[in-house]
Amino acid sequence: MIPLVDLSAQHREVAAEVAAGFAAVIERTAFVGGEEVAAFERELAAFVGVADCVAVANGTDALELALRASGIGPGDEVIVPVNTFAATAFAVVRAGAVPVFADCDPEHLLLDPARLPLRATSRALFAVHLFGQMAPMAALAAAAPGVILLEDAAQAHGASQDGRPAGAVGMAAGTSFYPGKNLGAYGDGGAVLTGDRTIGERVRALRNYGSPVKYEHPVVGVNSRLDTLQAVVLRAKLVRLAGWNDARRRAAERYHQLLADVADVVRPTIAAGNVHVWHLYAVRVPRRDAVLRRLVAAGIGAGVHYPIPLHLQGAFAALGHRRGDFPVAERAADELLSLPLFPHITGEQQERVVAALRTALEA
Ligand SMILES: Cc1ncc(COP(=O)(O)O)c(C=O)c1O
Repeated sequence: MIPLVDLSAQHREVAAEVAAGFAAVIERTAFVGGEEVAAFERELAAFVGVADCVAVANGTDALELALRASGIGPGDEVIVPVNTFAATAFAVVRAGAVPVFADCDPEHLLLDPARLPLRATSRALFAVHLFGQMAPMAALAAAAPGVILLEDAAQAHGASQDGRPAGAVGMAAGTSFYPGKNLGAYGDGGAVLTGDRTIGERVRALRNYGSPVKYEHPVVGVNSRLDTLQAVVLRAKLVRLAGWNDARRRAAERYHQLLADVADVVRPTIAAGNVHVWHLYAVRVPRRDAVLRRLVAAGIGAGVHYPIPLHLQGAFAALGHRRGDFPVAERAADELLSLPLFPHITGEQQERVVAALRTALEA
């Protein structure tokens, strides 16, 4: 069995550090916030090159609080690609705003600057850095003057574009530390990254019942803090992230070679200016569902990201969209197939994946 993501080898690298850190936190019996979380926030801000980082309980909260702290709220419209994880659009709804869906470009499947559904009422845009590479930020900014650029950097820890890191380009970014992410916790976690300290302070208040001061609540906030134990894990992993991303790039290159002569497979490509961190290696194949079934039966943990575009999800039925509204994303949803990829995957495992894929395609 080759899983889509194997976290056990990663754990072995950090196990001793994490065990010692957990013991220290438990000894202090200080489980929420504290110096461990503050240190992680400083270290991630430095890694990304932003003025501020505020850790929260998960990526969905990070996106919501990034929106709210950027001044987005009831009545505002926020452009969101339909080919993303549902949480991007849920965050918009939870901030009280309205998602306005958009299609992606056919090659990289990133938000397409040429097809933005811009209206006079467009307030913000969520650039989703899908699969590990950044959406075209300069082109999006040029196509949408006056629209606030926000980033969903959940899948792009360590990615960059024209020398600018993911999370450092928009007014604010939300990211996730769900265990399978390139930088993953041992449970849920997330963070808001921003170059604007005022936005950072607003998120700091919002995540803590609306206020940095105990029992004073000038605005309605939430309880969305990163557990101290998760900060221990994330600090240990952050110092290894660049090396792990290098390993992902080598593995992606190996797939690229191994798949070069597989006729029915369309391999993923890197958009100009991007340094890709390969959160997912997603190919496109015909008869995807049958191929996926055969791979899973052969012990290959392949996956689909994502099978149903957001405009066809029941949660967004009220927006009144139909099949055919976003044809590029709809086609991609029928063809995409994510192959196992993680920093410690071996060449032999990748050869087995590709051999199984060949057989599945021939059947
Ligand atoms: C693109 C994207 N946005 C948002 C999220 C939501 O993050 P979380 O699961 O931490 O709430 C995820 C991951 O789950 C994601 O991949």
